Amino acid sequence: MFDLTGAVALVTGAARGIGLSAAAGLTLQGCRVVLADIDSTTVKQAAHEIGDGAEAFEVDVRDTKALAALVADVLGQPHELGILVNNAAVLNTDPLEQVSTDDWAHVMDVNLTAAFEATRAAAKALDGRPGRIINVASVAGKQGGGVFGTSAYATSKGGLIALTKSSARELAVRGTTVNAVAPGPVDTDFIAQQDPRRRRDLVDLIPLGRFARADEVGAAVCFLASREAGYVTGSVLDVNGGMVMA
Ligand SMILES: NC(=O)c1ccc[n+]([C@@H]2O[C@H](COP(=O)([O-])OP(=O)(O)OC[C@H]3O[C@@H](n4cnc5c(N)ncnc54)[C@H](O)[C@@H]3O)[C@@H](O)[C@H]2O)c1
Repeated sequence: MFDLTGAVALVTGAARGIGLSAAAGLTLQGCRVVLADIDSTTVKQAAHEIGDGAEAFEVDVRDTKALAALVADVLGQPHELGILVNNAAVLNTDPLEQVSTDDWAHVMDVNLTAAFEATRAAAKALDGRPGRIINVASVAGKQGGGVFGTSAYATSKGGLIALTKSSARELAVRGTTVNAVAPGPVDTDFIAQQDPRRRRDLVDLIPLGRFARADEVGAAVCFLASREAGYVTGSVLDVNGGMVMA
């Protein structure tokens, strides 16, 4: 348990799954959290269930102007530590030769370009005050897919890992750390979309013999957001049950 009293956070894609777990974990540690999602009804319900310290905001992260304005609003508030969690994403499983150019662009816009826009809006809003940026990547970004997601998804997550490292270098001098978590299969709606045989095959690939729970990924996000993680930057924290060890 870390003490995030005095911190503010924005978590994208926080209506459910990993984003919701991260938001709930940050709130438990005393952080004020804005949960942002395209799914307005569910994100409002999620913030209501978390209770004190949580607020909901409807945003489509592809709307870069609205996203930048939201980041500026949340991280521009008085605070001792400003946290941004770039978590919103869409999955794509179309083979390389079948994925449409529009679908490819959609995946890049949600999974990568939004994180870039939010990161530079955060750097501006933090204006040299301490910050933490955490990007939710994937094993797919490290090993080129193969688990779930094909080229579009894997490329977006590989790009997100590169963005993590490049922005960590550029923002270090301003007191902001930038890190990623790279989950393997997590028991969320993402995985529920897979057929039962595929789910069993996936479990067989995991040395720990089960999918992660969303709160286990949320806990990794909370660590990287903590004051205690102040010397960790540019890292990719694997949360994959031993599935990929490089
Ligand atoms: N579940 C897994 O097995 C797994 C594994 C590796 C990485 N991840 C990553 O973890 C993160 C969260 O995954 P999850 O399993 O919780 O997914 P999820 O589908 O349960 O939740 C994703 C959330 O993002 C929101 N979202 C989608 N498009 C959006 C947009 N344009 N604007 C705003 N919000 C939008 C959705 O409404 C949803 O609430 C993603 O980045 C995903 O790539 C998940």
